[in-house]
Amino acid sequence: MTDEPLLEVNDLEKHYPIRKGLLNRQVGAARAVDGISFEIERGETLGLVGESGCGKSTAATSVVRLEDPTGGEVVFNGGGRAGATRNEGGTHPNDVTRFDKTELKAFRRDVQMVFQDPSSSFDPRMSVGSSVAEMLLVHGMTDRHRRRAIVEDLLERVGLSAEDYDRYPHEFSGGQKQRIALARALVLNPELVVADEPVSALDVSIKAEILGLIEDLQAEFGLSLLFISHDMSVISEVCDRVAVMYLGEIVEIGDTEEIFADPQHPYTEALLSSIPEPDPRAKREHIELTGTVPDPVNPPSGCRFHTRCHKVVQPEGLNLEQSVWQALITLRYRVASDEIDVEKIRENAGAEDAVKAEIRTEFDLPQQLSDPEAERTLDRALERLAADDSEGAAEVLNAEFVTPCEETHPEYTDHGDGHVSACIRHREEVRSEAFADD
Ligand SMILES: Nc1ncnc2c1ncn2[C@@H]1O[C@H](COP(=O)(O)OP(=O)(O)O)[C@@H](O)[C@H]1O
Ligand SMILES: [Mg+2]
Repeated sequence: MTDEPLLEVNDLEKHYPIRKGLLNRQVGAARAVDGISFEIERGETLGLVGESGCGKSTAATSVVRLEDPTGGEVVFNGGGRAGATRNEGGTHPNDVTRFDKTELKAFRRDVQMVFQDPSSSFDPRMSVGSSVAEMLLVHGMTDRHRRRAIVEDLLERVGLSAEDYDRYPHEFSGGQKQRIALARALVLNPELVVADEPVSALDVSIKAEILGLIEDLQAEFGLSLLFISHDMSVISEVCDRVAVMYLGEIVEIGDTEEIFADPQHPYTEALLSSIPEPDPRAKREHIELTGTVPDPVNPPSGCRFHTRCHKVVQPEGLNLEQSVWQALITLRYRVASDEIDVEKIRENAGAEDAVKAEIRTEFDLPQQLSDPEAERTLDRALERLAADDSEGAAEVLNAEFVTPCEETHPEYTDHGDGHVSACIRHREEVRSEAFADD
């Protein structure tokens, strides 16, 4: 009974329509969350990590139904593995995405959210005690004295004092406000708390205090937590398991320790590489994540991370130094999205050959590629760039510097013990195809 997950998220999707023109016609969609699945066990903390713009907040608001997801299901307290208690037609009676008003009200008692900015989460004209007590009132506790007693006790449990009840939000620091936000999240005795970057706005020293408090409260209240952060070091402190999200998808999920010790997805490696390593002997390779997360309206094909991936696979027959291949892919996407300022390079460099050389330098490309055919292609593309024909350059680069990573949407590979990742390098047939010698 107790080993059933508290929350099961299956193929959750949130697409925001993009509308244009007088008729406000839908011309596309931002695929902010694009089919994610995970479970949270009772008493467990699952981390959700990824750079800004990966869809973490949208995932959170879709799970708690502050927004209506456009697809998938969220089974809360389903009482069994998916399928076990389904209705005819395959829907689950505890699917939050189908809850009516009454069911939602009960759900909103059992699931609470904590947000990044504690300042904006309180009404400045209301004492903090009343803000917390209001939750009890909304959910039917009419006895004022009882409400006050519960809130005073809770304020103490989050490290404040009962006297703080009558004080106003502006009288508290950011860290203290986040303590009050935690009290408010806990006052209805929820089963699940979704915390979206709860310490990201806090100073380093305060951060550690609040993380410690979250851990203590979790144990004390037997909570399950969905803990969202862009910061791997924060994740490592509080999460039992972690899901790594990139551009609307989960690219890797598993036990935190296992993921830190043996990351399988290059994106996970890159995120991990950005945290300072306390033990210099365990020196990790430094991987720089350049650029930003692409637009979810038009995500890269195949593996969405391939445009920024240090392990992006080379096509059959090509055998460049990996960093050079990655630089070519970076160049290709910068040119395609019109992100390089040739005008400026020309001003500095002058003659065409100097412009071409300068672009190579800027993209960390050698002045001569080791592969003659790739060199001819690059030279052709640079020539067009130097002649201000970036469309022509894009055409050459798009046609010639093609990676297997853009051709297949990677499926999950199971690494055992619930550790899975989605990278084509883990698929044997792709590997042999990509590296075949003929
Ligand atoms: N209401 C909206 N309409 C259109 N796009 C949105 C909306 N909200 C978020 N997005 C887009 O969805 C993507 C994911 O955003 P978000 O969930 O806030 O990511 P994160 O929390 O990981 O930073 C971003 O590209 C963002 O611009
Ligand atoms: Mg966010």
